[in-house]
Amino acid sequence: TKATILISGNGSNLQALIDSTSNLLPNLKIVRVISNKAAAYGLKRAAAASIPTTYHNLIAGKYYKSGEPDAAVKQQGREKYDEDLANLILADKPDLVICAGWMHILTPRFLDPLEEARIPVINLHPALPGKYDGAAAIERAFADFEAGKLEDDTTGIMIHYVISAVDRGEPIVVRNIECRKGESLGELQERIHGEEHTLIIEGTQMAISRLWSERGKST
Ligand code: GRF
Repeated sequence: TKATILISGNGSNLQALIDSTSNLLPNLKIVRVISNKAAAYGLKRAAAASIPTTYHNLIAGKYYKSGEPDAAVKQQGREKYDEDLANLILADKPDLVICAGWMHILTPRFLDPLEEARIPVINLHPALPGKYDGAAAIERAFADFEAGKLEDDTTGIMIHYVISAVDRGEPIVVRNIECRKGESLGELQERIHGEEHTLIIEGTQMAISRLWSERGKST
């Protein structure tokens, strides 16, 4: 199974996937790692594993000028960016796209061509379904926990299918994480990142088997 992985930062989840290709996910072939951030350490991790990398840059004068005052022009630029990202991915003909710490909202201009090509896109999000959509999910759950407002004192992580509604696609696998009194945000983040590295492999495994069973039906 060929996969393209999208990252924006450290890439510790990418690293977990790279490491899994020799044991838990032997038939996973990572064909490309794409980042929207030039400095993403994950690009170094990919290069060290001889995986092709692409820096897909949003503001390079190609989509819109930085500091663009016109919102409509900016939106057009973002949509063209998403379209180009889809074409970049389609050229490799992967079976699956995995967002692992990808911090850019994917619009239908990206999702529609992928759906057309029947290439599922999955995402790791450090919260429970329907809770804390978007960025800084762990921080927001922690703040609610500190304020005694976190339901069941429990947050979590999930791998889910990506749809245009941010972090709202069908969950593939969910893990509950109990918050602990007196634990710092950093300690909670450590625990969550540790769990992510396991869940990203589990979720990818499940997406791969579902992919092939669906293909089996459709042929
Ligand atoms: C994870 O918590 C991910 O859900 C969030 O950023 C973190 C990614 O970390 N978007 P890494 O880049 O995989 O180390």
